[in-house]
Amino acid sequence: MKANIQNLFGEKIFSLIHTSNLTYTTCWEDPRIDRKALNLSEDDTVLTITSGGCNSLDYLLDSPKHIYSVDLNPHQGALLQLKLAGIRELDFGSFFELFGKGRLPGFKRIYWEKLRRWLTPDAQNFWDRKGEKLFDKNKSFYFRGTSGSSLLLINFYIDRVAKIRLSINKLFNAQTLEEQQEIYETTIRHTLAPFMRRLLSSNLALWMNCVPPQQRQQVEQDFNCDIGKVYERWIEVLITQVPIKDNYFLRLSFTGEYSETCCPEYLKQKNFVRLKDLISRVSVVSDTVDGFLQKNNCNVSRFVLLDHMDWLSTYRHEDLISEWQNIVCRASNEARVIFRSMLSKVDYLDDLTICVDGQPQQLSSKITMRQDLAKQLNTNDRAGIYGSFYIADIKR
Ligand SMILES: C[S@@+](CC[C@H](N)C(=O)[O-])C[C@H]1O[C@@H](n2cnc3c(N)ncnc32)[C@H](O)[C@@H]1O
Repeated sequence: MKANIQNLFGEKIFSLIHTSNLTYTTCWEDPRIDRKALNLSEDDTVLTITSGGCNSLDYLLDSPKHIYSVDLNPHQGALLQLKLAGIRELDFGSFFELFGKGRLPGFKRIYWEKLRRWLTPDAQNFWDRKGEKLFDKNKSFYFRGTSGSSLLLINFYIDRVAKIRLSINKLFNAQTLEEQQEIYETTIRHTLAPFMRRLLSSNLALWMNCVPPQQRQQVEQDFNCDIGKVYERWIEVLITQVPIKDNYFLRLSFTGEYSETCCPEYLKQKNFVRLKDLISRVSVVSDTVDGFLQKNNCNVSRFVLLDHMDWLSTYRHEDLISEWQNIVCRASNEARVIFRSMLSKVDYLDDLTICVDGQPQQLSSKITMRQDLAKQLNTNDRAGIYGSFYIADIKR
C-alpha cells in the first residue's frame, strides 16, 4: 500500500516535470546504429519519437520518403521545429553556433528576423518566452532543459570540485583505447565516476532525466544493484571500451558542447546543404505514438520507439496494447520496428495479445525478432545508456 502511494506520487511528479518543460535538448540514442538497423531507402516512411529531434534529422540524410516525428511533449516538437527553421534560414556557421555550441549571440534578433515565421503558434509561444534565455547567455543550451541540469552539475564537479578539466581534455584527444583506459584509471575512477553514481542514484536527477520510479525499480531488479551503480558501469564501459574520438554523447556530457568533428551528422558541414533540400520531408507532430497512428491513415515502414515501452509496460499497459494494435494495423509490407530498453532483456511483448482480422492473436506470432543483428549493433552504441536494443520485423 505504502509502495503504491509512493509510486503514484512519484508518477505524478514525473508527469508534471516531464510535460511542462523541455526535457531533452538532444537525443540519447545512437543514430549510427539506428540507421544501420533501419536501412532506409527513398521508399520508406518513418515514424519516430522526436525527443531532442537530432535523430529525425540524421535519418533524413538517408532520404526516406517522409518522416513523422512525434512526441507527446509539445516542447520537444518546438525544438525540432527550431532546428528545421535554422537549417532552412541560417548559414552553417550560425547553425553550428546555435546547436553545436549551444550559444548564439544575437539570438533574439535572428529568431525574430529569420526563424520565427517557420514555427507553429505553439512553438512561437515557447521560443518567444524562452529562446533568448536558452541560447543567448554564457551557459550552453545543453545545460538547460530538465535533463541538462545533470550535465551542468557534472561539469561544475569537473571544473570546481575535482578540478580535472585538463584530464578530460586529454581524454577527448586520446588516440587509443589504452590511453582512454589510463585516464579513466588515474583520474576518473575515483572522482567523477563515484560522483556520477551518486548523482544518478537520486530520484530528483532521475525524474529530471525522465526515468520514472517504475523504470528505476525494473532496472534495479534486473541488475540486482542500485541504478547509480548501473550507470557507473555503463559509463566505465563507454570510456574504456569505445573509441572516444567520435563519441559526441560523452563530449556533450563532459563539455556541454560539440566540436565540428565530434558531433551528430546533422551538424556536419558536409551534410548541411543536403539537409536544406530534404527538410520538407519532415512533419513534426505533438501526440503520443498511439494517438498519431489512430488519427492518421498512413502506411509506415519504419518505427523508432526509443525506450518508451519501458514506461508504458509498467503503468500504461492498456496503452501498450493499443499502440501495438495500431503499429501492426498501419505497418506497410516489410515494416521494421526498433526500440531500446534500460533492462538487459524485456519480456513485456511476450504475452501481449492484439486483434488481427477480428481474432485475438499473440503479438509474438506477428513479429520476427532480429536478435543477432541487434546485439551486434548494440556493442558499438556510443550513447551507452541502455541495457538492450531490439529490431522487430512485422509479418504480413
Ligand atoms: C522515451 S523518452 C526517454 C529517453 C531516454 N530514456 C533517456 O534517458 O534519454 C524520450 C522521449 O519520448 C517521449 N515519449 C514518451 N512516451 C511517449 C509516447 N507514448 N508517445 C510519444 N512520445 C513519447 C518523451 O516525451 C521524450 O521526449
